[in-house]
Amino acid sequence: MAELIVALDVQTREEAVAKVKAIGEPVGFYKIGLELFTAEGPDVVKAVKDLGKKVFLDLKFHDIPRTVERAVRSGGKLGVDLMTIHAVGGQAMIRAAADAAAEFGANGPKILAVTVLTSLDQSDLADIGVAGRTPAEQVAALARFATAHGAHGLVCSPREVGALSQALRPGTLFVTPGVRPAGAAVGDQKRVATPADAVRDGATHLVVGRPILAADDPVAAARAIRAEMEGV
Ligand code: C5P
Repeated sequence: MAELIVALDVQTREEAVAKVKAIGEPVGFYKIGLELFTAEGPDVVKAVKDLGKKVFLDLKFHDIPRTVERAVRSGGKLGVDLMTIHAVGGQAMIRAAADAAAEFGANGPKILAVTVLTSLDQSDLADIGVAGRTPAEQVAALARFATAHGAHGLVCSPREVGALSQALRPGTLFVTPGVRPAGAAVGDQKRVATPADAVRDGATHLVVGRPILAADDPVAAARAIRAEMEGV
């Protein structure tokens, strides 16, 4: 059964706690990203965990293996459930992240690799020295690379998840943002899919922000998305 993760895209710990409490039972998993973590630090992670929720700490580590290993260990100590690294950090960095996560056993953090940021196009890839591959080819190559070296899963767009879930081994996690229920405002997302389509294509976790956080009734919005996911 795919899980719903709400992107806690707010600026303060107080707002974060208020949102988690207001949404309540229908959502058991929250994503804390760079903005909120840089503002509030580990306290906000602890606060969300203390409310009985799982946490996806999306800090996209990319550093030398030893530093990433230690950062993942710090996340494990906080009780974080999912963490992100950049696949382009290389084999040793990916393995170091996976090994640090494994120290926490079956309930420790799972490591997700980011392949090509969706903000990059072909000419951006050429600028950073990736020539001769389309973004889609680069995503597929880095996805195979990262999972072969210990990553438990990938962050990917709902447009990529179908091909990737066919190509990679069963049990790989596919976490997809860019999800919009039919009729919801798209905002600045360009390539979106409905919750049902994303799950049908193989997503194991859907990340949804504004369609829930900015809804008049966030509880009803979360319940509707869950119902759509469970109906697949
Ligand atoms: O509000 P919305 O549903 O668009 O939020 C999606 C969340 O997923 C945001 O936190 C955004 O930063 C994140 N994300 C994304 N697209 C990516 C990677 C992450 O929308 N390619």
